[in-house]
Amino acid sequence: MDMSIPKIIAIDGPAASGKSTVAEKLAAELGYLYFDTGVMYRAVTLAALRELHSVQDQDAVTALANRIQIDVLPPSEVDGRLYDILLDGEDVTWAIRQPDVDRNVSQVSAYSGVREAMTDQQRRIGQRGSVVMVGRDIGTVVFPEAELKIYLDASVEERARRRFDEMRLRGQGTSYEDILEAMKRRDKMDSSRAIAPLRPADDAVIVNTDGIGICEVLNRVKGLIH
Ligand code: CDP
Repeated sequence: MDMSIPKIIAIDGPAASGKSTVAEKLAAELGYLYFDTGVMYRAVTLAALRELHSVQDQDAVTALANRIQIDVLPPSEVDGRLYDILLDGEDVTWAIRQPDVDRNVSQVSAYSGVREAMTDQQRRIGQRGSVVMVGRDIGTVVFPEAELKIYLDASVEERARRRFDEMRLRGQGTSYEDILEAMKRRDKMDSSRAIAPLRPADDAVIVNTDGIGICEVLNRVKGLIH
């Protein structure tokens, strides 16, 4: 392996900024592990909705976050998935993308105990190196020492359009306006929370992806590595 390639590449940014797609392709090209930390907060949210029927009780959600086992494994099916997400052994890869998870995940991810539990696990996995880690706070909190930090951004309208197209492809019928409103709400909660808010690290390279395709974004990111 070329010694100049950073061991940990942190990619942060708001919903549907293109983080997941770019990170997955980059990881495949480098032979790195692709690790999307958002799936962990989504899995906790799904577990809370199922077991507690709500995410309001911070102590109960935190206890749940410490109890459940979340695994990320290579994809077992060819249905557009990039990985398998297991929640206590059950395949929840698509269940964590449901609109009720979208609506509640920002509240769950603002709970300090939940963040502590998830951050510990993320550090344990990332410490092995050769990883492209994606999230909201990787460059600021999880791995502030990462040698390369990228912050992908785009206007909320463009991001809502992308999410709308993704959901339509999966046969989930939601209107563009509903997605736009939900995304604005989630952006606001993620950016304004007290712990680990969404923001670029001081030493992150900010890439605006408005009107730019995945290939071009990937090329720009690769240009930052070499
Ligand atoms: O795919 P999308 O960008 O819509 O969302 P995600 O990356 O799966 O993240 C879902 C939610 O988890 C975010 O809205 C945040 O509230 C939370 N999250 C976080 O707080 N910290 C991370 N490192 C990753 C996600």
